[in-house]
Amino acid sequence: MADLFEWLANLGLEKYSDVFVKQEIEYEHLPLLTDGDVRDLGLPIGPRRKLLDAIEALRDVPTPKHDRLTRPSEAERRQLTIMFVDLADSTPMALRLDPEAMSDVLRAFQSAVASEIGRLGFVAKLMGDGVLAYFGWPRAHEDDARRAAAVALAIVDAVAKLPSPTAEPLACRVGIATGLVVVGDLIGEQSAQEHVVVGATPNLAARLQEAAGPGEVMIADTTRRLLGNEFVIEDVGQRRLKGHEQPTPLFRVLRKKIRHSQFDTQEQAGSVQIVGRESELALLLRAWEQARSGRGQAVLLTGEAGIGKSRLLQAFTAAAAKEITTAHIFQCVPLHGDNPFWPVVSAFSPAAPIVDRIAEDGRQGNHRTGRRDTISALATQLLSAARSGPTVIIFEDVQWADQATLDLAGHLAHSVGDVRVLCIVTGRPEAEQRLDTILNLTRLALGRLDRPTSAALIAAVAGGHELATRSHGDILARSDGVPMFLEEMTRAVIEMTPDGGTVSVPATLRDSLIARLDVLPAMKSVAQIASCVGRDFSESLVSAASDIDAVELRQGLEALREAGLIVTRANGRFRFKHALLCDIAYETMLTPRRKQLHRSIAETLETMSDSFVEREPESLARHWYAAGENGRAEVYWLRAQHRAAHWREQLDALADFVEGDNAEGGPIESAWNRRKLH
Ligand SMILES: Nc1ncnc2c1ncn2[C@@H]1O[C@H](COP(=O)(O)OP(=O)(O)OP(=O)(O)O)[C@@H](O)[C@H]1O
Ligand SMILES: [Mg+2]
Repeated sequence: MADLFEWLANLGLEKYSDVFVKQEIEYEHLPLLTDGDVRDLGLPIGPRRKLLDAIEALRDVPTPKHDRLTRPSEAERRQLTIMFVDLADSTPMALRLDPEAMSDVLRAFQSAVASEIGRLGFVAKLMGDGVLAYFGWPRAHEDDARRAAAVALAIVDAVAKLPSPTAEPLACRVGIATGLVVVGDLIGEQSAQEHVVVGATPNLAARLQEAAGPGEVMIADTTRRLLGNEFVIEDVGQRRLKGHEQPTPLFRVLRKKIRHSQFDTQEQAGSVQIVGRESELALLLRAWEQARSGRGQAVLLTGEAGIGKSRLLQAFTAAAAKEITTAHIFQCVPLHGDNPFWPVVSAFSPAAPIVDRIAEDGRQGNHRTGRRDTISALATQLLSAARSGPTVIIFEDVQWADQATLDLAGHLAHSVGDVRVLCIVTGRPEAEQRLDTILNLTRLALGRLDRPTSAALIAAVAGGHELATRSHGDILARSDGVPMFLEEMTRAVIEMTPDGGTVSVPATLRDSLIARLDVLPAMKSVAQIASCVGRDFSESLVSAASDIDAVELRQGLEALREAGLIVTRANGRFRFKHALLCDIAYETMLTPRRKQLHRSIAETLETMSDSFVEREPESLARHWYAAGENGRAEVYWLRAQHRAAHWREQLDALADFVEGDNAEGGPIESAWNRRKLH
């Protein structure tokens, strides 16, 4: 990897290395340094000039392009999973081999690694014996960390299979870390450094790679949490990494877990007791009773992300565990949404007859009639299990199902009537349209938890931890009764802020939230501008306060609405469905952009209507503060305070009136009419 010290030495500036170390500047940061930054280093004019020229030259170095790159229009802050891959023992090998043989090795290594990464991630840099990759950029996915881990394992295999010029097989070391970074076009239009990443995460990934042994994949704790339980992971303990003051926990990814079609009734490690959902659970258990008695049932369980569909299923299978003879779970995932029957194939061993049947369908070229036959044959095979006892067949997350799997689910729902089978199909609301044609599904929509149940969930997650009242209120307000948000926010409060300070969006939520904004560029840019206005915003204000064109704004709003991220209210007004979505859209912007937007929102509000300024001076104060104009904000704060005080006076007066004068029986309204309130 190109090294800062080496670079400084080449310029004859090595004696200034300490200055760079002190300012925590790394090689990757160099192209981002502005003239002002370089001046702040305090170097004499001669070296400073030399440095500026060399930085300029660095910006002209072409970096690898990628065909999947759709260039974001500007730099942004986002969560990335970053991977460093390094060819193990390349230095001794380079000393032993002649340069030509070594360059063949490096070329083969780079091409093997880049082609694995290219399937699911983005190759950011090829550096001789090292490769840097991003997962979650240019577009985020809910499962970026899992993609990175799967690719890392494939890379380790691929490199081990490369022809080796020595007796030893080739091996690589992989380091992966996930965190918030600034990424994108930090320099300006047409810059070659458009995908430079700045933040602590790349450094951590590089250190993890150094800590990995040959053939090992070492990951950071944040990445491990995002992997869920799909991989076998080994806790390596804590180690002090170079440049890190505190010891860092390290984890090794060993392999992917093999899926079993048997439903896992064990509660996931760390998951809390289910709260609420009594009536929904009762409905499932009633359907199960009927199915057991030979009147098969099909239930469609819908609800937004994180609302608790899977948790409810878990509670159901735990409650019914003793009576379930066979359980099949077909898990749909976004990655395989175009792969016919993927959820079914992955649930069985490759040798199972059902997999053979599907392979046969593939060989027949997937003709419609062939597919129909296959579906009914598969359905028969699955339903035949009911002969030996009550059976549960679950299709999880059908919003990501391929059409063939969806047809299979539909076929089963039609055919369960007289067998001992309960078929449960789960999906987010958008899945419902795809299942419109299936008539005999009992529909069960999960809503958000009410306040007392939300509070019970917070208490369950917090366990013995005392939460400050403010944090408790904060979590309730920002989680909107969505269990996933309640759970993650509570965990974040417990882990990060022992004294109950303000919490930002937890890392475990970021990927899924950003992925939902990342579908269309217009979606994200509209969401970003809107997030500066606040959770409630109007189309007219977003339009007036930004340079977004009318078509893009319309497209963005429509896409956000269709994706269920915002809801329409009256008079061209909208609301982010979750407070956290508003937070995350806001977080993705860099400070200068936020400031600029707040400024133009404030200016627009000032000119838009006097009554707004009168009604909500505190909103203007907020925007001016956020724009960095404390003086202008102050004026509005004073107004807001004055208004609040005035209101209190009026309310006191009203209370007196109601208690006193009211003896004459005058309606309260008339009091409001008589007294001018503001
Ligand atoms: N009623 C509940 N009581 C306690 N915890 C819950 C409850 N509902 C959900 N959770 C927790 O909230 C998190 C999200 O729930 P879950 O994974 O079931 O959501 P989901 O609807 O399946 O989301 P997705 O659409 O992303 O699959 C999980 O950690 C789950 O354990
Ligand atoms: Mg789920």
